[in-house]
Amino acid sequence: MITPEALYKKRREFMKLGAGALISSSLLSSKLLALNFTSDTNTKKLKISDEELATNYVNFYEFSTNKKRAVALAQNFNTQNWKIELSGEIEKPLSLSMEDILKFPLEEKIYRFRCVETWSMVVPWVGFELRRLIDMAKPTSEAKFVKFTTLLDKKQFPDQASFFPVVEYPYVEGLRMDEAMHPLTLLAVGMYKKALKPQNGAPIRLVVPWKYGFKSIKSIVKIEFVKEQPKSTWEKYAPNEYGFYANVNPEVAHPRWSQAHERALGDFFTQPTLMFNGYEKEVSSLYAGMDLRKNY
Ligand code: MTE
Repeated sequence: MITPEALYKKRREFMKLGAGALISSSLLSSKLLALNFTSDTNTKKLKISDEELATNYVNFYEFSTNKKRAVALAQNFNTQNWKIELSGEIEKPLSLSMEDILKFPLEEKIYRFRCVETWSMVVPWVGFELRRLIDMAKPTSEAKFVKFTTLLDKKQFPDQASFFPVVEYPYVEGLRMDEAMHPLTLLAVGMYKKALKPQNGAPIRLVVPWKYGFKSIKSIVKIEFVKEQPKSTWEKYAPNEYGFYANVNPEVAHPRWSQAHERALGDFFTQPTLMFNGYEKEVSSLYAGMDLRKNY
């Protein structure tokens, strides 16, 4: 829990920065500043990426396609009174505040993360297994997929207000129910032991470590349980380049580049990309009998 002393220090830090406007948003997330979680023992002995690199090398198109600009533009992102609406094929619709969300026991999970653009990182996320929230939502037998939606707010997201937005908004992603229920699938509220920064998808985002990073949708406001496979944002944009499954697969090239190698943030040399991003043992059974070239 946050202590008065920690709060005081945090306030002074912001004062020193002269970032008066940021104070209210920093205080609103003060509950998140000191996250209580069980630590990951890093049994896979993964080399954690540098925090500065990992939190600042971002893709958040609602702000900008330029990584540096996206970080700069995200700084005043207001997540006050954030709500997540759960609806669709569940017993009854639910609206959860971040206070409600933070009642789930939080865990640190150190995961590999592989972007479709061929860079990669290893991040210590803080969050909880999505299946815990799904269990709470009590989906009916009609629920076959889970659809996630990012906030739509033209006042906060410059690209949503643009005449020619880069992609169709709001950003949408989806998972098959068994993928959503997999224990590796995380709803993250923090990284590097702290609350998520705005550029990384505050206050809550998805993390699916065996899939390309674009599946890990940021700043979620809606989770729907649906019968049909939802159309995800990137699938709509270029279906031949970005499939619904988007499982990391070194053998299936993107039409414009190979996916066989990746460059970890901060590294000079590339390294081979692993099937399912190194989570083959854990997840390959989800795709037994499926043609992974067709279902890319
Ligand atoms: N979610 C939203 N709403 N908007 C985005 O532009 N980019 C995706 C994903 N989630 C994106 C998003 C992509 S392409 C990647 S690689 C990851 O977020 C990047 O996460 P990071 O910026 O925290 O590294």
